[in-house]
Amino acid sequence: MSSIEIRQVRKEFKGHQALKSINLDVKDQEFCVLLGPSGCGKTTLMRIIAGLETETSGDILINGKRMNGLPPRERNIAMVFQNYAVFPHMTIAENIGFGLRMKKASDDKVKKQVQMAAELMHIEHLLERYAGQLSGGQRQRVAVARALAVQPDVLLMDEPLSNLDALLRLEMRSELKGLLRDLKTTTIYVTHDQTEAMSLADRIAVMYGGEIVQYDTPPVVYTNPASSFVGGFIGNPPMNFLSDPAVHAALGVHAPSGASTLGIRPEDLELSSDGLEINAKVVEMLGASQQINSRIGEELIRVSTAATPTIAAGARIRVRARAAQARWYNADGKLMAL
Ligand SMILES: Nc1ncnc2c1ncn2[C@@H]1O[C@H](COP(=O)(O)OP(=O)(O)OP(=O)(O)O)[C@@H](O)[C@H]1O
Ligand SMILES: [Mg+2]
Repeated sequence: MSSIEIRQVRKEFKGHQALKSINLDVKDQEFCVLLGPSGCGKTTLMRIIAGLETETSGDILINGKRMNGLPPRERNIAMVFQNYAVFPHMTIAENIGFGLRMKKASDDKVKKQVQMAAELMHIEHLLERYAGQLSGGQRQRVAVARALAVQPDVLLMDEPLSNLDALLRLEMRSELKGLLRDLKTTTIYVTHDQTEAMSLADRIAVMYGGEIVQYDTPPVVYTNPASSFVGGFIGNPPMNFLSDPAVHAALGVHAPSGASTLGIRPEDLELSSDGLEINAKVVEMLGASQQINSRIGEELIRVSTAATPTIAAGARIRVRARAAQARWYNADGKLMAL
């Protein structure tokens, strides 16, 4: 059992509030993803959980036990950080087995675990090489293998796939989740790639400006973004935000009282014989679908439709909103209760 609880954790760097009262609970064996733009505090939070950085206030609990003040080695945590370090003068096998040797594991166990972790990361053919001879992507996989080899209760990963090429990244991503489920690890994983977050997470904690602005399962975060920031950050293309009541009426929806902005996903605007008329300014063919980009007054509008019939750039089209998918935001950009 390894649950993680973060209670009202704040971090201040010389007057700069990097974290503002963070609350987060991660259940045993859960895969939690921290998602947010650069500088929102993801790495700072991970370093505090690991014990590499001291919180200004608040508590970190693992399995209900308060970790504040304990050094990293007493937290049964393994980490793969953004700036992972592998030891260039050691072989890959020695690198992967390093944490186990520090824990005085038997030679047999080290050998077995190193082999297991290397196979998981597809680097078993590199075990005898020196780490100094590897590419950046290979080194990153060594760093992940080294963390997996100790079979930690809690695994913290900060952008562990960022140095891999696109194809390998996709492959690793789909393997990683199954892998960690089999290893029964509780994981916190940092990324600023929303697709990666959606595909890996049991729950996503969306961070912005040192705060967690939404913490929920990927489908809930996608269909009910708690704020216009979340709706704009998650989804490619992002959610549309339209504030003109005349546009709402033409799309076939009406703002409830107190609402100012309609949030509607591009795939929830459907071509129709009546409805809002827009000029299909830019049409991007994406294979399975096509994306139409236009403008209504000052606001961007994006429509995602099936690849056929093909829409010509410059064509006038009409769209309506799927009313059940309309979300409404108040003047502060907060999702209104339905
Ligand atoms: N040691 C430090 N001293 C002063 N400020 C810091 C320190 N470490 C981080 N910060 C600041 O705290 C904020 C959060 O930084 P952090 O590294 O946690 O962001 P991040 O979400 O991990 O971003 P990225 O996606 O770019 O890695 C930033 O404004 C950063 O400049
Ligand atoms: Mg970071």
